[in-house]
Amino acid sequence: MLSDDFLYQLKQSNRIDSVMSSYVNLHRRGRNYVCLCPFHSEKTPSCTVYTDTDSFYCFGCGAGGDVIAFIRRIENLEYIEAVKFLAERAGIPMPEDAKDNEYSRLKTKILEINRSAARFFYNSLLSKNNEKALRYLASRGLSPNTIKKYGIGYAPNNWDSLKTHLLSQGYSEEELLAAAVCTRGRNGGIYDLFRDRIMFPIIDLRGNVIAFGGRIIDGSGPKYLNSPDTPVFKKSRNLFSLNFAKGAKSERLILAEGYMDVISINQAGFENVVATLGTALTSEQARLMAQYAKEVIIAYDSDGAGQQATHRAINILGQAGINTKIIKMEGAKDPDEYIKKYGAIRFKVLLENSGGAIAFELEKCRAGIDIETETGKVEYLKRCVQVLADISSPIEREVYISKICSEQNVSKEIIKAQTEALIKKRINTEKKLETTAIFSRAQTQDKINPEAMKFLKESKAEAGLIAYLFFNPDKLDYVLSKLPPEKFVTSFNKKVYEKLANIIKNSHDFSLSSLNSEFDVDEMGKISEIIVKNKDIAISEKEADDYINVLLGHKNNNAANSDLSDEDFINLVNEIKKSQHKMKGDFYE
Ligand code: UTP
Ligand code: MN
Repeated sequence: MLSDDFLYQLKQSNRIDSVMSSYVNLHRRGRNYVCLCPFHSEKTPSCTVYTDTDSFYCFGCGAGGDVIAFIRRIENLEYIEAVKFLAERAGIPMPEDAKDNEYSRLKTKILEINRSAARFFYNSLLSKNNEKALRYLASRGLSPNTIKKYGIGYAPNNWDSLKTHLLSQGYSEEELLAAAVCTRGRNGGIYDLFRDRIMFPIIDLRGNVIAFGGRIIDGSGPKYLNSPDTPVFKKSRNLFSLNFAKGAKSERLILAEGYMDVISINQAGFENVVATLGTALTSEQARLMAQYAKEVIIAYDSDGAGQQATHRAINILGQAGINTKIIKMEGAKDPDEYIKKYGAIRFKVLLENSGGAIAFELEKCRAGIDIETETGKVEYLKRCVQVLADISSPIEREVYISKICSEQNVSKEIIKAQTEALIKKRINTEKKLETTAIFSRAQTQDKINPEAMKFLKESKAEAGLIAYLFFNPDKLDYVLSKLPPEKFVTSFNKKVYEKLANIIKNSHDFSLSSLNSEFDVDEMGKISEIIVKNKDIAISEKEADDYINVLLGHKNNNAANSDLSDEDFINLVNEIKKSQHKMKGDFYE
């Protein structure tokens, strides 16, 4: 277990507002901050950051907790890894005993295996027997320097060459499976995952080999095979070549579709290029890019699928606060082919002439329409209004409205009115959707404490007592003496009560953070909810006694109790209405 002193120091050096602000835009509201919740999609902020309790809570999706819970959730880390992450961020050394857990030992092992595999592939590429692989790379225009820089290799054409190599180095079969360089066959044996493929190591920002992409040369099977997710690799949150792009220290990143595009663009002299790893762009990747660049130039394939993917990427990047530009490439299907055909200088011109996202979307409105006909023109303008309504800056909107209206020779007033009406309509729909979501959450979604709905009065009393102890830890002995944990009715709250009591007893400085090692991120959200809901109305001793009496008076195994009584039902409805009203006041005005 981590000491209180360490946790205290960790949190002092990682204030929740400063940590969160590298992931979201925080807006001050009184003593607190609000932001768009990074854990669900929304347009009006329902995530609040409380500086007094150093915690956050989202009223929309129920995510919440302290700074460690935030990092666990957003970086998708185990508790101890999140602690390490924050320790590293603040430059605080980890206490010795926390370093050596089994999971992080496995991760270290996997990284070693990956590095060794990458070296094996690289050596295989240079071996005389595998001349065809090197020839292939040369035919694709890759220079020896580029091959070396990216550590490109070759996985030989048999079932166990890597396996044999790694076993001889002392790794176990289980470890090879965990690293996903091998996979288990139907007969129970294990064999190499990549065979007869050009191998692209995927390298993270610390220089670790975290996964591979492998391209076939001529054989059968999928063109590219990518490592599955492993303890050291999450596809959805890594980018190919970010290790080089980061070093470019450019304000812009180029986003391409595939490995070969990235490598060609890089070889042509643009270090600031990345690609996703065999999947569509995710919001996590967009946030990652936002840490390194203000602007992203999308250089996807010029075919229909590439343009569709561009449209998607514009939205996702926009949500991460990134300004997007789009290259317009003609005469080649992808940047790799373009550079081969026309050279680096002309590619540079493409980059410099890349247009904005709005121009791209407006251009797309013309697809499949003959603007010269009356109906075609009407359809085109209707589509344009949809795009115009998405522009958040009124000035920018005005500029594009003027441009389209003078091009099409129509009255500006009409298009403007249409656009504004659509914006209003969208805002209303959005609000309705969010209100409904919050309402139905309050009503039904208590996955963490499913018993709470059944024992409304009791779970409310339990929550009250938990909050009471949280804010008045000195009252622990008193409460415990009257109410042993067995008297708690819902099992989740009972667990919180027990752990909280334990922690208060054993720590001199306890906080929400002390609960992290005992609860998962969803449970942390629930605990934050309890605390947030009770933080502004101090619970008196008298109220605490009332809660205790409710729980002492509860009769277990009483069948009549297991359904919601009429009285409880009416209370529930009133409560939901009240909290809904309150939230409206907070967020929708
Ligand atoms: P493309 O099919 O456009 O390949 O896939 P490419 O990048 O132009 O490759 P070359 O030039 O033929 O070598 C683009 C990206 O989609 C993913 C890969 O990440 C690839 O780089 N992909 C494609 C797969 O993951 N699996 C596949 O079978 C195909
Ligand atoms: Mn290609």
